[in-house]
Amino acid sequence: MIFYFSGTGNSYYVAKQMLEPGERLVDMAEALRNKDFMYIVEKGEKLGFVFPVYFFSLPTVVDEFISKMHMKNDSYTYAIITAGGNMGGCGKKLHHKLWKLGVKLAYVREVIMPDNAMLFYQIQNAEDAAKRLEAAEPVIAEIKADLADRKVLSSKKGNGKKDVMEKAYAFCTGTKKFRVEPELCIHCGLCEKNCPTDTIMMVEGLPTWVNAHCTKCTACINRCPKEAIQYGRGTKKRNRYVHPIFGGKTQEE
Ligand SMILES: Cc1cc2nc3c(=O)[nH]c(=O)nc-3n(C[C@H](O)[C@H](O)[C@H](O)COP(=O)(O)O)c2cc1C
Ligand code: SF4
Ligand code: SF4
Repeated sequence: MIFYFSGTGNSYYVAKQMLEPGERLVDMAEALRNKDFMYIVEKGEKLGFVFPVYFFSLPTVVDEFISKMHMKNDSYTYAIITAGGNMGGCGKKLHHKLWKLGVKLAYVREVIMPDNAMLFYQIQNAEDAAKRLEAAEPVIAEIKADLADRKVLSSKKGNGKKDVMEKAYAFCTGTKKFRVEPELCIHCGLCEKNCPTDTIMMVEGLPTWVNAHCTKCTACINRCPKEAIQYGRGTKKRNRYVHPIFGGKTQEE
């Protein structure tokens, strides 16, 4: 069974590459919304977690889901953490979190992929994103081979404790900085549909950010087909990124 979370497609793509015939793929955001927390991993089945690193830590959606899940499991457990540059101590934080639930994480690997964090700084352009995706392929293949061999690999970075970056993340889960440019919006509702935390509601044809549970996945802003969504002052001039498995960079050039 593979649990995944993905805002712009990188982690979904990686999770799909690991999927074995008949294996179940569970979207942690959907499970959290539906309050589906009971899982049984069959004997011999692997248990996988695939998600992006946020602020060298776990996305709030992943953190909350794992805290609530109930799992009967003594299976080989692995995590694949997608990152734009460096997962920092995220692997060890996950290890500690699962340990408390009685789940022993045997293998953790990072996959460097295109960065989607354009809320905060300029990210790579489309050409560089394509190069990053190409460079990730041999890493993904290596991980797949490691998992087939049930290799053990622990994460050495960090001490598993809450750090200053995680505290910074906790400060920015509000949505006040999001806005829509009404003249660009085509009222397609994709932002509402793609939001994993039900934070967006269409009101009179335009998105409104209605609660403070935003996990900062960037799905709304990166996946808007018209680049009609902005965040604070800097995003107007910044690149957008969407993995091809989520339709790629869909906005018009
Ligand atoms: C809020 C936020 C925080 C991020 N923090 C980090 C980070 O600490 N280190 C890093 O390497 N990448 C960071 N990234 C980049 C993503 O982890 C990376 O692009 C990831 O592959 C996106 O996965 P997804 O397409 O499945 O959503 C961050 C992205 C976002 C949106
Ligand atoms: S995805 Fe973009 S164009 Fe579509 S409704 Fe949302 S803001 Fe408007
Ligand atoms: S509001 Fe946007 S950034 Fe926040 S969780 Fe929803 S889609 Fe992600």
